[in-house]
Parts: sequence; C-alpha cells; structure tokens
Amino acid sequence: MSQELTPADKAKFICAKRAMDYVKPGMRLGLGTGSTAAWLVRLIGEEVRNNGLDIIAVATSAQTANLAAECGITVRTMDEVKWLDLTIDGADEFDPELNLIKGGGAALLQEKIVATASDQVVIIADASKDVKILGQFPLPVEVVKFGWETTKGLIEEVLSNLEVMSQKVTVRMAGDTNLITDEGHYILDLHLGSISKPRELSLVLNQIPGVVETGLFLDIADAVVIGHLDGRVEVRDINIGTVEFEQIDVVEQDNMFLDI
Ligand code: A5P
Repeated sequence: MSQELTPADKAKFICAKRAMDYVKPGMRLGLGTGSTAAWLVRLIGEEVRNNGLDIIAVATSAQTANLAAECGITVRTMDEVKWLDLTIDGADEFDPELNLIKGGGAALLQEKIVATASDQVVIIADASKDVKILGQFPLPVEVVKFGWETTKGLIEEVLSNLEVMSQKVTVRMAGDTNLITDEGHYILDLHLGSISKPRELSLVLNQIPGVVETGLFLDIADAVVIGHLDGRVEVRDINIGTVEFEQIDVVEQDNMFLDI
C-alpha cells in the first residue's frame, strides 16, 4: 500500500509514472534495470493487462525479464527486435550534460547495448542521483573472468595517470564470491570520487584488454525525469533544452504497490 512506501520510493514511483507519457502503443521498448525501472515495468504491466497496451519489450537483465513476465509483459530478445524506439532506464548518477554512471545493479552491459540501439533514451531517477560531476558513485566496469586480476592491475595503472580524486578498485562481491553478471563476467568498482574527464576515462578503460564495457553512458540519454521527495517531477530534455516541473500524486489503487 502507498502509505508503506518510503519518500525515496515515492520519488522513484512518480518519475516512472511521468515517464509513462513517453510510452506509445506499437513501440519497441527497452526496459531498464533497478528499483526505479521496476516501477516502470509494473506500470507498463498494468497498462498491458488492463488496457491492452501493445508494445514489443526487450529487457536489460534477467531480473527485469522476470519481473516483466510476472507483470504480464511479453519479452522478446534483442536479436529478435534489433532496434528500439525508446528505452527507459534508471541511473546511479547523472550530470548536467546527462552523462551517466550506470551499473549499480550489475546490468550495465545489456543496458548499454539496449540504450545505444534506441532512438530515444529517457532516464528515470530520484533527485539524489543529480550531480555536478560524476564519480561519487563507484564506476562499475565489467571485465572478463580470465586474467581479471591482471585487468584490475592495468586499470589501476591507467588511473594513476588520470585526474581522479581516488584510485581504489574493488571487485563486486555476491556474498563471499565474486558477483557474476548476466553475461558471465565480473564487475570491478572504481572508487574515483570525482571524474573530471569522463570521455578520456571511458576511452582509456575501453582500450584495456579484458574490459568488456564501462558504466559511463556518455551522449546516450536524451532526457531525464527526476522524482523529488516533495512530489514534484522535473523533466529535463537535453536536446531541446527544456526543463519542466509538475506535481504527481501517488494514488493508492489496485495492486501497484504489491510485491510482484
Ligand atoms: C543497473 O545496473 C543500474 O544501471 C541501474 O539502472 C541503476 O543502478 C539505478 O538503480 P536504482 O533505480 O535501483 O537506483
């Protein structure tokens, strides 16, 4: 029930709800991963079940594919669909140019493939993700298992020559073993504090053998829908340069707030 939602959950819910305005019948739609994107998946599922919304959906993780199926959304593979009209996904950080850090949920590889193959990418996030400079959130980097300690060493060497506040690199754990991504890789988290040159960092990291992809999403997002704790939703469109606010009420109804 809505009264059980924390203010942070409400902020995530209202931005997902506002992002539903971008979803049109017949669209090929990329479904993001994470707690904010999960609200969107539930809202889309409700439209599919109650109003027959006809969309072609591709998920960015096994987690999202499972949730979508539970919500009544038919999920197709990226290879079946190949190109998408719209992807809506969360982010761990976004800066004023709508550059992002993603991968807090370890799904950055599929997320980047899906987002890059989308005509439009809309990010949904609560206001805590809004930063002046990326890097406070550890930057996830997906690496192949083979020689991952060597890859980690090469990343540390590269970082020592770059303008970053801190250079600590840790391997993401799941309990007492390394976390394994949907694509069978490991995640290294780069604790950088501040990334003054994200483009340079992205280029050098992607040149290291063993690095599959980084969580830096540069020039990918078109708009961000930000949920504020006071119920306001802010929409920033980077292409047309507009910023709009509106109030969205959390209405307690049907099964939106059940754990599906
Ligand atoms: C998943 O790998 C991430 O990129 C998520 O999109 C990101 O971590 C945001 O997740 P939340 O919406 O749960 O904060």
